[in-house]
Amino acid sequence: MDTQEMIDLCKEHTMYTWSAQGDVSPLPVEKADGVYFWTPDGKKYLDFNSQLMSVNIGHNHPKVTAAMKEAIDSGLIYVFPGSATKPRAKLGKLLADITPENLNTFFFALGGAEANENAVKAARMYTGKQKILTRYRSYHGATNLCMQLTGDPRRLPNEPGTPGVVHVMDPEPYNYKFGDDDEEKTERNLEYLEEIIMYEGADTIAAMMIETVTGTNGILPPPKGYLQGLRELLDRHDILLICDEVMAGFGRTGKLFAFEHAGIKPDIVTMAKGMTSSYMPLGCMAISDEIADHFEDNVFWGGLTYNSHALGLATATASIEVLLEEGYVENAAELGPVMGEHMARMQQKHPSVKETRNIGLFGMIDLQRNAQGDPMADYNSNSQAMDDLNRFFRDEGLFTYTRWGSFMCNPPLCITEEQLRDGFEIIDRGLTIMDQYVEE
Ligand SMILES: Cc1ncc(COP(=O)(O)O)c(C=O)c1O
Repeated sequence: MDTQEMIDLCKEHTMYTWSAQGDVSPLPVEKADGVYFWTPDGKKYLDFNSQLMSVNIGHNHPKVTAAMKEAIDSGLIYVFPGSATKPRAKLGKLLADITPENLNTFFFALGGAEANENAVKAARMYTGKQKILTRYRSYHGATNLCMQLTGDPRRLPNEPGTPGVVHVMDPEPYNYKFGDDDEEKTERNLEYLEEIIMYEGADTIAAMMIETVTGTNGILPPPKGYLQGLRELLDRHDILLICDEVMAGFGRTGKLFAFEHAGIKPDIVTMAKGMTSSYMPLGCMAISDEIADHFEDNVFWGGLTYNSHALGLATATASIEVLLEEGYVENAAELGPVMGEHMARMQQKHPSVKETRNIGLFGMIDLQRNAQGDPMADYNSNSQAMDDLNRFFRDEGLFTYTRWGSFMCNPPLCITEEQLRDGFEIIDRGLTIMDQYVEE
């Protein structure tokens, strides 16, 4: 099959996500290795977004592919969810070892959305309460409930969604300001949240779900003290804290899980993406010992044909072992400040750069079209400039995502300093083009 035939058949018979199908121009990909991937005609891309912020250990790691082959050859690929298997036993134990001591029980799903769906079920069944608080600047998945949990504009065409979700502003809203510094933002946002809890009624709210570090909606680490304050506030009102670590987990922020930066213990944690580094589809909900105790005597009304799929679980174990043994979490922590320096250099040099943020290898650059800070593309919009930047990155072999007036810097955690520098060399030239769009 030649490349054009491959593209044509993909377009003719398969649907692409978040798109009018006629507008889609898929990128042909043949193979990938480490931080790179290649088109069938040999064009090489530096993967600066780990695909969907998910290939954390890098592409095609030989230890993981060997473990996958071994799992296939073992004669056990899939058995029903009621079985006990070695891959299930091993991954359950490994996760219990690497998560905080209150999390020892795990429910396996197929991706982030299913993990979040089950987290909401568990929270509702455990508390006997219905409402879930989530934030406007959030993405929690594309199933019906998760679209409603999501705050960003992808929710809007999916409404009306499942009832019982109340959206709130996080400490860094898009325009509104809770304060000028971390302390103020934390204090005022928590005051605002407490008032919302009063209006909604604490005895009707099962849980609050947050992305511990907001991902697609801005790569926003919480202000200092926020997570500790939130944990205390929710405890006071008997509301569970669900941390969605689908994107931020498994080393992305320079810690294994992002909540570790604040030393808090969530009641429920959801994971996916980096859990297998996307070598297989897998999601997971971790529940606290208190919640797990509840389900000792009460039915957990949830199930999936592919719950605890042996091949998926064996892949996750191998991927997590590589992440830990090869020091990729530490690499993310060490290269975080290096990426921060590159970003600061870009901001100093280019008038089109409004703001940069990163925690570990989780970063974003916001662009502006004037010195007043108006974004290069408005909220939920695109612009000629951002289209040009996207095209430039593609032409130059840098794979990343632009979103509204910003773009992502989320390379695989195995990236080296030199490869990071290569990425910023292309970004530097792209920003020179963006500078031409800055109005006088
Ligand atoms: C924070 C977060 N939660 C949930 C999801 C949904 O995960 P999935 O696409 O695997 O269903 C995503 C996906 O991008 C995400 O970033």
